[in-house]
Amino acid sequence: MIFYFSSTGNDKYAAARIAESTKDTIYSVSGCMHDGHFSYTLKEGENFGLVIPTYFGGFPNIIIDFLEKLDIQWPDRNYVFFVGTYGANCGNIGQEAFRRLEKLGRKPDAAFTIKMVDNWNPYFNMNDKDYISKAESEAESAIGDVVQKISNHVKTDIPAKNMPTILQAFSTRLYHSYCKTRKFAVSSACISCGLCERQCPVNAIKLKDKKPVWVKPECTLCLGCVHRCPVNAISYTKKTVGHGQYFNPNTEPDIR
Ligand SMILES: Cc1cc2nc3c(=O)[nH]c(=O)nc-3n(C[C@H](O)[C@H](O)[C@H](O)COP(=O)(O)O)c2cc1C
Ligand code: SF4
Ligand code: SF4
Repeated sequence: MIFYFSSTGNDKYAAARIAESTKDTIYSVSGCMHDGHFSYTLKEGENFGLVIPTYFGGFPNIIIDFLEKLDIQWPDRNYVFFVGTYGANCGNIGQEAFRRLEKLGRKPDAAFTIKMVDNWNPYFNMNDKDYISKAESEAESAIGDVVQKISNHVKTDIPAKNMPTILQAFSTRLYHSYCKTRKFAVSSACISCGLCERQCPVNAIKLKDKKPVWVKPECTLCLGCVHRCPVNAISYTKKTVGHGQYFNPNTEPDIR
């Protein structure tokens, strides 16, 4: 049983690659949240995995909410792993994973991180083809390495900190302040397809008069609406304008 959260496909692809090797079933956290599926019973020896992106050096808000709701019946014996994807610096996501998964009732056996394309397009330019192809090819071998370790039930210690605690606390505060939906804007290119509304994992977007309106003051800041709009009509601050869109070419977007 592998849970993943993914706005631009990196974690969906990583989870699928792991599941292909371990024969586990994969579940989308967005789908579980949408359908209200929070109770799961693991079979004896069945893996439990969580595969998620790094946001500001830590967990996306939606995953914290999900883990609070999740009710797992653990078997006597199984392998519990965490994978955090990231683009530049994974911060302290590995320690956070150990802390949060232990609260679910089982100390994790391993935490891994995988460097992939950084979809934070307020800074990274998705039109930079050299960056994208280099990051995708390096990710490919990093995924292969992690797949092998997970398939062999390799155990790890709690990962070392990449960021001093004080800096991590500042980064988390910054994340919360950046989650304000008033920072999104829609251009006249919008064709009223409604995809942004359907794919938002926290239902923060509604079409009104055929244009998207952010109906919640805050969201989880996955940037899925920005990256997946078919006509690139959504921006998140002026910094994303001209920085293009990204979706991992090895997988398909989840559509509700
Ligand atoms: C809100 C937000 C914050 C992010 N923060 C970090 C970060 O602190 N460090 C980092 O290396 N990458 C960061 N990223 C990049 C993602 O972790 C990375 O691109 C991830 O692989 C995306 O996964 P996905 O395609 O499954 O959504 C951030 C992305 C977003 C949207
Ligand atoms: S996804 Fe883009 S084109 Fe479709 S409704 Fe949203 S903003 Fe408009
Ligand atoms: S509003 Fe956009 S960035 Fe925020 S959670 Fe929804 S899809 Fe993600």
